[in-house]
Amino acid sequence: MIRLLLRQFRNISHNNPPIQLLPSSRWMHTTNTLLHGEYEWQDPKSDDEIVRVTYIDKDGKRTEVKGKVGDNVLYLAHRYGIEMEGACEASLACTTCHVYVIGNHFDQLPEADEKEDDLLDMAPFLRENSRLGCQIVLTKELDGLQLQLPSATRNFYVDGHKPKPH
Ligand code: FES
Repeated sequence: MIRLLLRQFRNISHNNPPIQLLPSSRWMHTTNTLLHGEYEWQDPKSDDEIVRVTYIDKDGKRTEVKGKVGDNVLYLAHRYGIEMEGACEASLACTTCHVYVIGNHFDQLPEADEKEDDLLDMAPFLRENSRLGCQIVLTKELDGLQLQLPSATRNFYVDGHKPKPH
């Protein structure tokens, strides 16, 4: 809600075509044979699949990686050693995958659903371009995506929060 108000304040448009954004329960299997996260460890099979993503850490260090269509940016970050925690493994029960989506790509993402928005409201250092990385799946339109990590995240597991099973 807070983030939505921030966005309304800036009057940002959402008229761009949506990208694929799957509910968290579908992360468990990206195909019939792969567990969640395994898909992101596979290289693109063709140049057509490549989606370049730059992660910017809290110290400003930039790491450009080659993801592919269908990659979840949380698991892609894990593949390349980027410090995006993902404590709940994309089950929408934490905010440790909090990222800032830089530039116009933010408007190419579908709106966050209510659960993601509720979690973002609890994220430290919330900004109008905040999203949960585990809810972003790459499409060709997101080529050149830049994701900045906040200076800190909150881990509900450590803080005593008990997420519901999924
Ligand atoms: S990893 Fe917990 S909400 Fe994204």
